[in-house]
Amino acid sequence: MTTETFQFSLLSTDGGARRGSITMPRGEIRTPAFMPVGTGGTVKAMYMDQVRELGADVILGNTYHLMLRPGAERVARLGGLHEFCRWQHPILTDSGGFQVMSLAGLRKITEKGVTFQSHVDGSRHDMSPERSIEIQGLLGSDIQMQLDECVRLPADADEIERAMEMSLRWAERCKAAFGDQPGKAMFGIVQGGDVKALRERSAEALSAMDLKGYAIGGLAVGEPQDVMLDMLDITAPLLPQQKPRYLMGVGTPDDILKSVARGIDMFDCVMPTRAGRHGLAYTRLGKINLRNARHAEDPRPLDEQSACPAARDYSRAYLHHLVRSNEALGGMLLTWNNLAYYQQLMQGARDAIEAGRFHAFMAETQARWDKGDL
Ligand code: GUN
Repeated sequence: MTTETFQFSLLSTDGGARRGSITMPRGEIRTPAFMPVGTGGTVKAMYMDQVRELGADVILGNTYHLMLRPGAERVARLGGLHEFCRWQHPILTDSGGFQVMSLAGLRKITEKGVTFQSHVDGSRHDMSPERSIEIQGLLGSDIQMQLDECVRLPADADEIERAMEMSLRWAERCKAAFGDQPGKAMFGIVQGGDVKALRERSAEALSAMDLKGYAIGGLAVGEPQDVMLDMLDITAPLLPQQKPRYLMGVGTPDDILKSVARGIDMFDCVMPTRAGRHGLAYTRLGKINLRNARHAEDPRPLDEQSACPAARDYSRAYLHHLVRSNEALGGMLLTWNNLAYYQQLMQGARDAIEAGRFHAFMAETQARWDKGDL
């Protein structure tokens, strides 16, 4: 289903968990949703048709990577990111702030914006909140993110507060730069580290800006899971009920289920794709490290009940061989398996919320991971 304007409908709730639908000109996002990460215009080791077939409604792209290579203006001249990478459904782009923070090299953050050195060729770049929105527009992004400053934890409360307050001012500037684009959205990002009062201040100030959606950032950056969940417990209830909520960069299947229970609608994470390229499989039966010698003569597939050929049709012994030999097909099959499992998990969560049995679904799913298959 598509709509002329960007809209979110809350279809049903089950405790804190929400089942919803975002519609816009390029399609529908069924929530809770997992967005595969397509950093530089590719979901690594996957064909876009495969990503779609697994049930992804939206993928993520990165302002930082695409502005450096091949360049936002070049992508725009070539018809925009959807056309360039052959994904005609919604695309959400991250604003660049978080990726700049992750850079080892030179970077400077001031009220004006961020200055950084490219990891590709060492060239220097400036990115203001306005330029981040301009780049996301050139890419043709459907859901754009405000430029923010995310502080790595642990950090001093003063430092967390300074970054959070500046991120609020940047949200206002991004909102003004984005203007009125009915078919698209610009989301604000709640910051505030692990300090409850700062999370509250950020969530309340952003809510008052009446944005089309809200992300929760600055989590899964070094803190334990229970700290992250505490932050969700205090943040989610302060965000508007009728707007989508996106937890950025999260997470493991367990993080995702516990966050859905706390009212999160959207997720993205490199875990299924990156772990797949490193020999790790996420399955209904828990995590399996295919590098391990115990799989060398195991004729069983990863999960014979899966609808995904990568999980169902190849032996663990063969996957082990591919991974150990550094064959490209190893990363391809495990990425395919992992994204299939993540999408299957989200479909299970959506069905369970509709049926009013999300907590039972979560308990059964976790029990199966814990039991494993050995
Ligand atoms: N991805 C994961 N966490 C964050 C965050 O706090 N901000 C942004 N912009 N992206 C993220």
